[in-house]
Amino acid sequence: MEQKPISELMNLRAKVAIVTGGAVGIGYAIAARLSEAGAKVLIADNDENAAKAAESKLNNANANANANIKACKVDVSDEKQVEAMVEKAVKEFGGVDILVNNAGIYPKESMLNSPLADFQKILAVNLEGAFLCTKAVAKKMIEQGRGGKIINITSVDAVHPSGVNLSFYDASKHGLWGFTKDVALELAQHNISVNAIAPGSIETPGTEYRKAVTEEEKEKYLSKIPLHRQGGADEIGKVALFLASDLSSYMTGAQILVDGGKLLS
Ligand SMILES: NC(=O)c1ccc[n+]([C@@H]2O[C@H](COP(=O)([O-])OP(=O)(O)OC[C@H]3O[C@@H](n4cnc5c(N)ncnc54)[C@H](O)[C@@H]3O)[C@@H](O)[C@H]2O)c1
Repeated sequence: MEQKPISELMNLRAKVAIVTGGAVGIGYAIAARLSEAGAKVLIADNDENAAKAAESKLNNANANANANIKACKVDVSDEKQVEAMVEKAVKEFGGVDILVNNAGIYPKESMLNSPLADFQKILAVNLEGAFLCTKAVAKKMIEQGRGGKIINITSVDAVHPSGVNLSFYDASKHGLWGFTKDVALELAQHNISVNAIAPGSIETPGTEYRKAVTEEEKEKYLSKIPLHRQGGADEIGKVALFLASDLSSYMTGAQILVDGGKLLS
């Protein structure tokens, strides 16, 4: 097998990526790294203003003078909007080679005190959304005939609960990990790899609430993380770049834990 030089292993210049929930947080960090490696990136997010702000910020970034980023308003739980998202990637950039299913919500809710609608909402975004995006993008990838990379952002909660009142979230993320493995089997014949990244505690706009705690509570929280700090969004972005690039050419159906050792403790 041809051994590519290091300079080529992370070269995504011929690639088009869709990053759902890419306007802020982990999704934004992933979009930034994929763009830096040369990919054209569609930032697909429910929050149109935030997606447009991310588009201009990344297009102006110095790291990649040829940055090519477009924002796209989409609710990943709506099939018609998801199909329009894929059409937009094809129209703007000519196809799609990489999909990052990152959009997700994680409200804390007691199972005993919550209505069915709350459970369904979390599954609709975190799990059904990933299904809808994967289906629409995989069909396009198969039609293109040049393989592809699908990356699902799960969580340590896909393996083990991180705290109480996350049962709906944990159901969605365990589901997404199961979905990842079987879809990897289904799409392998088309040279489409499907892998997952399971982040631990990462600083993002969605986890701002973690800052509003006393020093004592913070210390208690950090004492459960062997590396004794929260992760930065770019620490997920770098692993996503690995999975989106040729560095991970023989990987499919895998889940990479990026949690500062949290699951060990
Ligand atoms: N931050 C963490 O500590 C952490 C840990 C483990 C897993 N994760 C997972 O990583 C992913 C990103 O988390 P984050 O902390 O960056 O989140 P965040 O709340 O900071 O950002 C989420 C983004 O997704 C978008 N979004 C929400 N619902 C959407 C929908 N229906 N359609 C399209 N876009 C939608 C939001 O507008 C927002 O831009 C999620 O799947 C989350 O479960 C996060």
